Amino acid sequence: MTYSNKKIADVAAELEKRIKTLDDKSSILRATELRALYAEIPTLPEEKRADFGKEINVLKDYLQKLVDQAQDEQEAAEPIDVTAPFDRNIPKAERPRLLSSKFGSKHPLMSELERVLAIFYRMGFTAVESRQLDDDYHMFETLNFPEGHPARDDYDTFMTSEGLVAPAHTSTMQNRVLSTYKANLEKGEAISVVIPGRVFRNEDLDARHEHTFYQLEGVYVDEGVTVGNLIATLKTFLETYFSQQLEVKTQPYYFPFTEPSFEFAISCPFCKKQGCSVCSQSGWIELLGCGLIHPNVLKMAGIDPEKYTGFAWGMGIDRMVMMKQNIEDVRHFESGKLEFLRQF
Ligand code: DAH
Repeated sequence: MTYSNKKIADVAAELEKRIKTLDDKSSILRATELRALYAEIPTLPEEKRADFGKEINVLKDYLQKLVDQAQDEQEAAEPIDVTAPFDRNIPKAERPRLLSSKFGSKHPLMSELERVLAIFYRMGFTAVESRQLDDDYHMFETLNFPEGHPARDDYDTFMTSEGLVAPAHTSTMQNRVLSTYKANLEKGEAISVVIPGRVFRNEDLDARHEHTFYQLEGVYVDEGVTVGNLIATLKTFLETYFSQQLEVKTQPYYFPFTEPSFEFAISCPFCKKQGCSVCSQSGWIELLGCGLIHPNVLKMAGIDPEKYTGFAWGMGIDRMVMMKQNIEDVRHFESGKLEFLRQF
């Protein structure tokens, strides 16, 4: 494929290279670079716009063809489904779009969460899902926020008239996971659990804030665990997830349930620290909160903090998916809008 415009040719070369390493190839059609080309059209002199636009469309059609081909190849490798309601010999692009439009498709948050979990499974973690209704004891007390603690205000959420809490974070599960898996420690094995879950906050809603979202918590405990282990684990996960080497940065922070506590940032995977719209021109993206589990939290689960130490983290899944799939408004996820969902 040749392009007369140098800028489009450069983007084409980059995207063709990148598509080979993506496991979700359809995400290439939402690449920042492609969107930037479209955004440039109105800034061009009027007589150049049509040609420029046409050439981007050629590139987009070509990428769509590569995506379809890759999907056909992937399907060819799958076992034959004799109940498929269409002729499987017809290439995917030529089939009626029944499958996505009539029968639905997986929600982008769920397919991304599956990718995230697959990486942690390979790293030896087990997954336990969090609850969507919990109590004050797990939301606060087991996490070292005694009654009246000012940090409780940072987790303003919804309550039922019976006093149950819609959890504001997946950390509500820490005590349960530590209590359940502490038998591992006695056998000389670590506790290594990730906890995906739906969480709720009393928020003023805008493009970056939603009352309902998803988090992934992680808990790791063993003898001699240090901040070094925390950083290495998260870096390994994030480099695998973004398929590239990253720089990481920690900054002191405060959470009642960890000591020390950190905010954890990575070098922007989209612009390699050059500055772009995803990282607000800073080159860095703050992704999660983490730290070494507070001795009181271990004690409350019946684990001896003199003998064992551990780390924990909590990260927002919605934000990761928004960055990766170029989604501009977090409210799309819970909107139930079919025009949004059918794009995935
Ligand atoms: N629960 C925190 C939040 O939602 C995130 C978090 C920070 C979780 C530090 C952790 C941690 O497990 O160690 O703001």
